[in-house]
Amino acid sequence: MIILGIESSCDETAAALVTGDRRVLSHRLAGQEAAHTPFGGVVPEIAARAHVEALEPLIAAALADAELTLAEVDAIAATAGPGLIGGVMVGLVTGKALAHAAGKPLIAVNHLEGHALSPRLSDPDLAFPYLLLLVSGGHCQLLLVEGVARYRRLATTIDDAAGEAFDKTAKLLGLGFPGGPAVERAAALGQPTVPLPRPLKGSPEPHFSFAGLKSAVSRAAGQHPAEDLAASFQLAVVECLIDRTAQALRSLPAGGKRPTALVVAGGVAANMAVRSALHTLAREHDLRFVAPPLWLCTDNAAMIAWAGAERFAAGLTDPLDIAPRPRWPL
Ligand code: KG4
Ligand code: ZN
Repeated sequence: MIILGIESSCDETAAALVTGDRRVLSHRLAGQEAAHTPFGGVVPEIAARAHVEALEPLIAAALADAELTLAEVDAIAATAGPGLIGGVMVGLVTGKALAHAAGKPLIAVNHLEGHALSPRLSDPDLAFPYLLLLVSGGHCQLLLVEGVARYRRLATTIDDAAGEAFDKTAKLLGLGFPGGPAVERAAALGQPTVPLPRPLKGSPEPHFSFAGLKSAVSRAAGQHPAEDLAASFQLAVVECLIDRTAQALRSLPAGGKRPTALVVAGGVAANMAVRSALHTLAREHDLRFVAPPLWLCTDNAAMIAWAGAERFAAGLTDPLDIAPRPRWPL
């Protein structure tokens, strides 16, 4: 089984070809950093136009890399939400057009499901159910992944996502855009000496909150070396993520099957401090720890193709008139 995946929900245009037995035949990515940098963040209108320009040649290149034609693909999976509506429409309409023209099934993939199932692409031994910390630019959730299309949300953020806090911190510290990797690099050069809050730490529900931390960084900016503030911020985020995940582990739904692993996915999962702290937590709870390789953490189309492969194998396809969804909880 060969699936073409298309991703365009934020500022990465991507196309990939993935097989049902976990081979990534090709994956192409066109970032839009240069277009958004002058604005210090993603501008939806600019993103949508850039997707229009980049997507078709990118799909052609992904097919050429894999030495395949569209006729040899079994199904087309495109992100149908959540995300910036203009970009989602570009990718979904393109997927529909290709599916119609080539007479192939369409699979409308929830971007969050792409992240949620991505660890199963890189780790063939990862079995359901697993406890997933999904941390990206738009989301921060704890999910019990019970199967394909079976997600039980245990917690979410009551305000900002962790990635958003990284991006805002980078902006406040003048570290540039995108923020996560810039904060991580700066943090490596500093000491976590600045006292910052750990919102919701110790609270009984495993929810997240990062708005107060963001404001605290804003107040402290300019009064400490940027590297020390970056290190202090990163430590605070890590401690919040670990405390909340530990709380979720302690309060797993009664009577449910024990998770086979603690898993992290999404852009913030590319952060080494986050990965290593979660690894330690998993060990303490006698759980296996699974994190996708870095390229599979941040937005890409291989995870969309893989989610498509999992859905296709489960008999889940979608009609060509399915609508894009800017908001779409798992
Ligand atoms: O999953 P993703 O690529 O896009 C969304 O679906 O949101 O996540 C992007 C987010 C951004 O906020 C980015 O700053 C953050 O992931 N990120 C990181 C790192 N790499 C990306 N955050 C912390 N450390 C990193 N190394
Ligand atoms: Zn994402």
